[in-house]
Amino acid sequence: MFMCHQMAMKKEAQEKLKAEQLRKAQAAFDVPIIWILGGPGCGKGTQCAKIVEKYGFTHLSSGDLLREEVASGSDKGRELQDIMSKGGLVSNQEVLSLLNGAVTRAKGNSKGFLIDGYPREKNQGIAFEEQIAPADLALYFECSEDTMVQRIMARASAAAVKRADDNETTIRSRLQTFKQNTSAILALYIEKTLTINAERDVEDIFVEVVDAIDCVLKKRQKAVASC
Ligand code: AP5
Repeated sequence: MFMCHQMAMKKEAQEKLKAEQLRKAQAAFDVPIIWILGGPGCGKGTQCAKIVEKYGFTHLSSGDLLREEVASGSDKGRELQDIMSKGGLVSNQEVLSLLNGAVTRAKGNSKGFLIDGYPREKNQGIAFEEQIAPADLALYFECSEDTMVQRIMARASAAAVKRADDNETTIRSRLQTFKQNTSAILALYIEKTLTINAERDVEDIFVEVVDAIDCVLKKRQKAVASC
């Protein structure tokens, strides 16, 4: 009985310490970091563009950073292209190193970071928070598979240059990769994740996005005021 009580006290103290360390690390990174999560075609990029317009945040899309590497024509780019065209996940080392470089370059001039399409599996989230900084918020855009497929197919048919992974076979495999990993991410980051119904009009979704971001900005202002 005494042992149980001692263990519970120790666990509570460890959790308090961890929460305090996280709060300090967040405060040390002087602008908010927001993860943008959701399946292929759910509307991550669309909402990010609107957030950038309203808040002037720095938008870092893991997919765009990888496509830039592919476009460079390097050997590494060819390897990445192979994985992406199969709808798989590129190694975290690769993605995190691209993100880390981009955050480092923008830090100092940025009002906040939108990390779009990351984390895509839970170890990515852990590595990001250890190596860069803790995220303030994760926005998860929830959308049915049918809607996501329809949106991507519509985007592909309207595009002058079609993305190599925007074909039905690769979309199915992107969806499969997404389904395999997402519940573990949502479970791990339950406290900082807001799930948003992304089956609605772009503007209606954005109202909820704005509420959530305003809340993060207020929390940060309060934290600065109490220092
Ligand atoms: P990535 O480039 O991130 O692609 P994705 O996640 O599949 O998402 P999309 O960019 O296709 O869609 P979106 O959600 O941004 O939707 P959008 O706003 O464009 O990743 C590509 C690949 O890179 C991955 O498969 C993987 O291989 C690799 N990769 C990336 N990140 C990685 C990571 N962290 N680790 C490992 N590998 C990684 O909208 C889609 C369409 O719908 C648009 O036409 C838009 O106008 C329309 N639309 C948007 N919202 C609405 C709405 N509310 N109503 C109606 N239409 C809408």
